Amino acid sequence: MWDKLVSYQAKIADRRFETLVDGARAAGFSAQAGDMRLDYAKTNIDETARKLLCDLLDETGVAAKRDAMFTGEKINETEGRAVLHTALRNLDGDAVTVDGTDVMPEVLATLDRMSAFADAVRDGSFAGQGGQITDVVNIGIGGSDLGPAMAVKALAPYHDGPRCHFVSNVDPADVAQTLAACDPATTLVIVASKTFTTIETMTNARTAKAWMGESVDEPAAQFAALSTAEDKTADFGIASERVFGFEDWVGGRYSMWGPIGLSLMIAIGPDAFRAFLRGGQAMDVHFRAAEWHENLPALLAVVGIWHNQVCGYATRAVLPYDNNLSRLPAYLQQLEMESNGKGVSMDGADLPVHSGPVVWGEPGTNGQHAFYQLIHQGTRVVPCEFLVAARGHDESLHHQHQLLVANCLAQSEALMKGRDLDEARSKVADKFEGDELERQAKHRVFPGNRPSITITYPQLTPFVLGQIIALYEHRVFVEGVLLGINSYDQWGVELGKELATALQPVVEGKVSAADKDGSTAALVDVLQRHGL
Ligand code: F6P
Repeated sequence: MWDKLVSYQAKIADRRFETLVDGARAAGFSAQAGDMRLDYAKTNIDETARKLLCDLLDETGVAAKRDAMFTGEKINETEGRAVLHTALRNLDGDAVTVDGTDVMPEVLATLDRMSAFADAVRDGSFAGQGGQITDVVNIGIGGSDLGPAMAVKALAPYHDGPRCHFVSNVDPADVAQTLAACDPATTLVIVASKTFTTIETMTNARTAKAWMGESVDEPAAQFAALSTAEDKTADFGIASERVFGFEDWVGGRYSMWGPIGLSLMIAIGPDAFRAFLRGGQAMDVHFRAAEWHENLPALLAVVGIWHNQVCGYATRAVLPYDNNLSRLPAYLQQLEMESNGKGVSMDGADLPVHSGPVVWGEPGTNGQHAFYQLIHQGTRVVPCEFLVAARGHDESLHHQHQLLVANCLAQSEALMKGRDLDEARSKVADKFEGDELERQAKHRVFPGNRPSITITYPQLTPFVLGQIIALYEHRVFVEGVLLGINSYDQWGVELGKELATALQPVVEGKVSAADKDGSTAALVDVLQRHGL
């Protein structure tokens, strides 16, 4: 099947896809889930390519694997785990069984406990030793940070709770600067760690506890924990009523829908948090029911596969024209690259094609004044993913929002159309002539024919954010199935962790660096001479 796709792509590679784009194509090469629309008309995918891609979905058994995921089968085979983050947003409570037990009563009970705690923090019935909680500090890293940090920023217009801060890096600058802005007597510290062993998180948590202990009698009373390891949270001294547990079938980078989302829930309130869950749930329903050619996650996945594995474009830019989504690219870097950045398929064989792409991006319009130069005129094609709302949150500045949207639409148009030499020449013909005109014109040529997709939605509400995140989660799932990858483990992060543990006594000067390779030993030496 890959061969068919690759040979068809070779046949149409030089075609200017702009010639395909008429009004009918806009309708035929877009799909809708509720009010959210995915437009992939500005790509070189035509009926034949789409048919081949949908055949790939069928031949790979994506539908059966999707159903296996939703029904609690242990599709994370290397860790022997089910993959059920979808249960966390299954607000109707329909039974979902793992090892013969319906997990939903426990999921919904935890959601209720979180809601009661969030309400108590927000209304002051849970207070710090100096009064009502003014600041919440979430200490976590990776999936225990990026999801809630991204979402708290995304839903800033809905904040009516205490200020939220996020500490993730073991760099002391992160924790020190964050805590310096907070009053220990009115701060709640949330230690978010699925395993409760992650060295960065536990180091920062101990630092925060010591900081709080300098000012209040019972620092642990202002700590909450979010973890699957409830024994370890007790060892840390956090009372069980402020421990919110979850199960190993929630992957770290898929965990913001449950307890790991507590900081978000405190920021926007339990009702808005449930609206976020409902958005995710709506995307689940769509993903399970819609035909492939109408199915947003499946289409997003096959467009990704087309550009990366078939066309060979190694990276993918995520460009939200929505400043509140400024952390979305960082969030998606973990979601996509930790999930599908693997060279071995589920059965242990080498992948026959490349693993998932490098994902990167920044909000528009900032990116336009930074790296869009390369996107438009560089020698490598970067497929772009634009996200844009019809409305912002400030009615009085709607004219500014319209300018934002104009910029977004202009970029995808420019990427598609480009500017040929004749047009470039005409732009500067009044200033130059002869050879100099030719030279100057060439610098102003845009190759065009560069693909992009655009995701539109009415407004970035909690519900819509839920739709967006679930859309990307399922896209990663589908791409993983097509590549034969286990998207739910992350063995590739382990080696660096092991070596860091071994290097700690070396950098502390307790153990000689002589056993290390020459480069590492020299780096330790130079840093130690500068005061390490
Ligand atoms: O280092 C990778 C990782 O295991 C991620 O997958 C995870 O999201 C992150 O570390 C944090 O893990 P934990 O929540 O267990 O502290």
